[in-house]
Amino acid sequence: MAKLRLGVLISGRGSNLQALIEATGDPAFPAEIVLVISNREDAAGLDRAAAASIATRIIPHGQFSGRDAFDAALDETLRDAGVELICLAGFMRLLTKQFVENWRDRLINIHPSLLPAFKGLTPHADALAAGVRLSGCTVHYVRPEMDAGPIILQAAVPVMGSDTAETLAARILQAEHACYPLAVRMIGEGRIKIVGERVIVAGEKAPDAPLLNPLA
Ligand code: GRF
Repeated sequence: MAKLRLGVLISGRGSNLQALIEATGDPAFPAEIVLVISNREDAAGLDRAAAASIATRIIPHGQFSGRDAFDAALDETLRDAGVELICLAGFMRLLTKQFVENWRDRLINIHPSLLPAFKGLTPHADALAAGVRLSGCTVHYVRPEMDAGPIILQAAVPVMGSDTAETLAARILQAEHACYPLAVRMIGEGRIKIVGERVIVAGEKAPDAPLLNPLA
């Protein structure tokens, strides 16, 4: 069967991109990365893509008159590459409502909290401030509202009394690297349906890791 064609959008480090690169390296994986786009030319993730011989494009947001023009360039580049599913992986630009609607149900994101808790740019510090005992990560379809949309899967991660935002982020990041490829695999296998803004997973298998949902 033809593989699902992924476009990955990054702005920086690209460790989630790396997890996707490694997963897609398996010939049995149902998706392939056809393009990596960064809005920053100094994004370390661009080197990871190049090392894996994946096509890259830099679309510097500063060179556009505004969000509409930037998103239109993004849209055209993704369509030209035949992208079928966009994976936001640390992409630090808000997308316009128009763009998000154009790619409705073909645009996913990973966020380092158990949404809908701790949306925004400081989820780790916010989780610590709230004193939660569990945090984690969420892979979800993107809707125009920030960090909102049907949840594909989540992993829960313990919060330790001694945690700083940095140590919690590092622990959650490990879970992110398991979740993102798994979510893409489920989509690539055609096992995901969105019903009334909730995700239904068909053909569920045993969890790949403890506290990883909703696979059991
Ligand atoms: C991750 O924590 C992701 O959840 C968030 O931004 C961070 C990106 O990290 N959206 P990386 O660039 O994938 O290493």
